[in-house]
Amino acid sequence: MGAGSTHTPGILAALTAKADEIKMSELCLHDIEYDRVYHMGEFNRIYMSEHRPDIKTSWTTDLKEALTGADYVFIQIRPGRNEQRAVDEHTCYKHGLIGQETCGLGGFAFALRTIPAILEIVKTALEVCPNAWLLNYSNPEAMVSEAVYRTYPQAKMLCICDMPISQQEQVAAYLGYDEKDLTFKYFGLNHFGWYTNIYNKKGEDLLPQLREDVLSGKVTGLSASQDAGKLDDYWFKTFNNVIKGFKAYPDFMPLCYLQYYYFHDEMMEQFDHEFTRADSVLAGREITVYQECKRVIETQSAKDSYLVSGVHGNYIVDLASSIINDKRERFIVNVMNNGAIGNFNHDAVVEVPCYVGASGVEPVAVGYIPQFHKSLMEAQKGYEKLAVEACLEGSYDKALQAILLNKTVPSYRKGKEVLDDFLELNKDYWNQKFYK
Ligand code: G6P
Ligand code: MN
Repeated sequence: MGAGSTHTPGILAALTAKADEIKMSELCLHDIEYDRVYHMGEFNRIYMSEHRPDIKTSWTTDLKEALTGADYVFIQIRPGRNEQRAVDEHTCYKHGLIGQETCGLGGFAFALRTIPAILEIVKTALEVCPNAWLLNYSNPEAMVSEAVYRTYPQAKMLCICDMPISQQEQVAAYLGYDEKDLTFKYFGLNHFGWYTNIYNKKGEDLLPQLREDVLSGKVTGLSASQDAGKLDDYWFKTFNNVIKGFKAYPDFMPLCYLQYYYFHDEMMEQFDHEFTRADSVLAGREITVYQECKRVIETQSAKDSYLVSGVHGNYIVDLASSIINDKRERFIVNVMNNGAIGNFNHDAVVEVPCYVGASGVEPVAVGYIPQFHKSLMEAQKGYEKLAVEACLEGSYDKALQAILLNKTVPSYRKGKEVLDDFLELNKDYWNQKFYK
């Protein structure tokens, strides 16, 4: 689902490399946009015919057709595409606020576009492939997972994010380890979490040493990205801000996205308001990936294609493999808390390590968390839950309440100004009840 994403070729490469392990016999690509799914679908057909001619391929814009008979469904949709992501960012900047796609109010507008579309997919999946596992990357994952787990608790859906694994690979590289040889203890919400310990195979916790290196100034950044998708200036700054955040609040190592909440004014200074992240994705990846698909279709060969796997593709395929082969490997997943974090709302989605196998997820007990992290999470969770309710009910009042709870919003007036602009700019996507 959402096969028109520029991340699709990376996932195809990971699927192909592990096709035997995951027992893949057929792969169908779906997108609501004909032009995009045509290019990705044909790219896939050519790529598979060269690498795995035994695997049946197809593509379609018909949701039911795509889901019928599916055992595993990967979802990575972006209603409004990166064009609307750019609108979110510019709208927020206009009012002096951060409009990042998942953090701050950019995430709010995006959630209200994505949730209705995801619920439609899950509803259809429950009709035509009720036993399928639905593995979701679609953002903003924090609110998407709250909406789905609440609306369709019977769905076998796991909501994941590639950020923790990306950051773990960088930290592992700094520590001189392979990421797979370390056990990271972590808790939080999606794009809002912390690492408490990093154990090696001998059971030694390496986090205290890392903290010392940060506090003494020995390490100033995590710039050497292990991930080909995260090599540009935006990610360079973002990963360096992990060290800055760790130094500011040294109890635990923050996930990079906490930069937007710890350092709101610095973020306003660090990033370009005229040419935003979405603008740069639109001018870069959105063009080059499709140029490459067109070249492959023209030459009918993907043999020398540079569109290959990375962290993003491997992570979701490894998750599927852990279920298929009952490997019970450890992944960070967004799940209902149900006591995993002892002193946090049990009826709320949290992001914690889980062991994943044929029977589903078993979250790791995190225990009790400190007041500081708990309080930050409670405000953010209040924002997320109210945003989901605003979305499902089309409630302006709940939208306004949600917005004030987001830490990036300083006042009722600013929040309301942004919300009123968003309403105008999202008429094609948001719950129509807002407009009645
Ligand atoms: C990370 C996050 C994703 C997000 C992506 C955006 O991988 O975990 O949730 O979609 O970054 O990356 P981009 O290159 O589009 O800004
Ligand atoms: Mn993510």
